[in-house]
Amino acid sequence: ERGAGFVPGLEGVVAAETRLSHVDGAAGELTVAGFPVEELANRATFEEVVYLLWHDALPDAGQLADLREALARRRALPRATLDLLRAAASEGTPPMDALRMAAGTASLRAGDASADGDAAYEEALAVVACLPTIVAAYRLLLDGEEPVDPDPELGHAANYLYMLGGGVPGDGSVRALEAYLATVADHGLNASTFAARVIVSTGSDLVSAVVGALGALKGPLHGGAPGPALDVVFEIGEARRAEPVLREKLGRGERLMGFGHRVYKVRDPRADVLATAAELLYATDGDAALYGLALEVEKTAVALLEEHKPGRNLQTNVEFYTALLLHGLGLPTELFTPTFAVGRVAGWTAHCFEQTERGRLIRPQSEYVGERDRRWLPIEER
Ligand code: CMC
Repeated sequence: ERGAGFVPGLEGVVAAETRLSHVDGAAGELTVAGFPVEELANRATFEEVVYLLWHDALPDAGQLADLREALARRRALPRATLDLLRAAASEGTPPMDALRMAAGTASLRAGDASADGDAAYEEALAVVACLPTIVAAYRLLLDGEEPVDPDPELGHAANYLYMLGGGVPGDGSVRALEAYLATVADHGLNASTFAARVIVSTGSDLVSAVVGALGALKGPLHGGAPGPALDVVFEIGEARRAEPVLREKLGRGERLMGFGHRVYKVRDPRADVLATAAELLYATDGDAALYGLALEVEKTAVALLEEHKPGRNLQTNVEFYTALLLHGLGLPTELFTPTFAVGRVAGWTAHCFEQTERGRLIRPQSEYVGERDRRWLPIEER
């Protein structure tokens, strides 16, 4: 029998106070540092979102230029990190594992902190700056190519696309990626953010917190499964096949990827933001037919889910349009979760600062359900 205080999965438990973001699952609203996500995502650059989360205010021009420069200066990877990535690529290590291993090497930069510098702030700059370089370098190494050096003249989002090997990206692609990164930068006390807060609450360092958060993000119940949503769109291939294919999947008891959410009981507001960004991207740079097909698949899926679970209101979640948007940017599916990390690291680092400033050691209790009063048996009597 369960103890009265036990809440499986901590569902509904309030474990932190935060000014960083708020998820209203009933209204379908996401507020990021006071801004409705749709207000922020269509305008902000990634650097502005980082500044906003770290300082609780939008930067002025000088503050933004300083942060851009500070991040750009920390993009290049130390030789040891590149050696590690080469070794991982030769083993065919999956990109999220390579990212987790290489992110830990951001501690090699500890010596860069200026004498009066704040070590945690320095670590935050180092990890935010180097995650895209690691992901992009690893992608090229896996393909047997040499990494592309970062370009300090480009903003964070533009430089990520540039380092992925496609040359200097167009404005439409950069805007779409900025919208994505801002949309996923923070999302309440999700599992990876909680993991990061637990780690720094012990007085541990911020790089350790980001490595732990990457481990949590990787799992399929969190950030690990945006690819399958796109696979279904490809499998369907043409609008008239949407209904029979989806009906068959539901009939077999399969879940439709990209639909439903634990917290949102209405449409995930991030889906709308990313749908707008994806529509723009596909209209200019992309495969307009694929976008049209995705809309048909979405409409059919929502209608069939209503038939399947009447009244549950299973709606489109963030994954559906994430997949479409990142595919439109030319990213392969195995980079979808690492790219999620490139955006979410803004929130992880901000939560680490907040936890360190205002939080207590996170140390909950467990309900003991094991045996009691056992007696030790010598090995020959067991
Ligand atoms: N397709 C088919 N049936 C579904 C789906 C779906 N996508 N989502 C929920 N259901 C069913 C579910 O099986 C359950 O049926 P039953 O009562 O017979 O067991 C019923 O609807 C109610 O489910 P729920 O309690 O609303 O779902 P949950 O809170 O346990 O799960 C979820 C939420 C996101 C895991 C689930 O909706 C799902 O598996 N969706 C597909 C995977 C997906 O898109 N995941 C990404 C989520 S967004 C990422 C993030 O924000 O971190």
